[in-house]
Amino acid sequence: MRIDIITVLPQLLDSPFAHSILKRAQSKGIAEIVVHNLRDYSTNKHQSVDDYPYGGGSGMVMMVEPFVLCIEKLQSDREYDEIIFMTPDGEVLNQGICNQLSTQKNLIILCGHYKGIDNRIREHFVTREISIGDYVLSGGELPAAILVDAVIRLIPGVLSDETSALSDSFQGDLLDAPVYTRPAEFRGWKVPDILTSGNTPAIEKWRYEQSLERTRARRPDLLDE
Ligand code: ADE
Repeated sequence: MRIDIITVLPQLLDSPFAHSILKRAQSKGIAEIVVHNLRDYSTNKHQSVDDYPYGGGSGMVMMVEPFVLCIEKLQSDREYDEIIFMTPDGEVLNQGICNQLSTQKNLIILCGHYKGIDNRIREHFVTREISIGDYVLSGGELPAAILVDAVIRLIPGVLSDETSALSDSFQGDLLDAPVYTRPAEFRGWKVPDILTSGNTPAIEKWRYEQSLERTRARRPDLLDE
């Protein structure tokens, strides 16, 4: 999968993809993440990419032309399955959307700033608008990083233990059961006996009950679905 991210703050995305699972996905050639500086596509001498809103009002609006030039340059090299705009008024990200996107080949992600982006970009290029939740961040870069992480870890071959993405909270209907590792006792706090019993069917049953209990207590809405 190839993901192209268009932003005015490429430095913000230097680090999130340079470690751990996302780094490995890239070095294995499973994922390619390319960050583009929108200013490189500005056509004026100050390299500006925003302007005052028509009709007045506070804040600046990101201009249509730099985005269009950058998107069209990318589209001249390959076809894209989706052009995604990160925005608080998009559909709220969930595991189902991540699963869907993880099956795609090429994605573009647009990061907004200021008061938003000229609506013509949304009308004529964007195919999908995604929010990471009902709160407003200062730009779309961190949301883009979250989306990329959530999607890339689902691509087969990225996680070393391929079953672990499948047992994630939200991948099924239930939240994960609690987990423990050594030592079996720390300051008198013991790991539940069942987990050290070696009785696999009983452990499975315990985990299922714990998942159900956690889901009931924390996210009863998931059970309603
Ligand atoms: N940009 C600013 N806030 C955002 C959010 N909550 N989700 C996606 N993009 C955003």
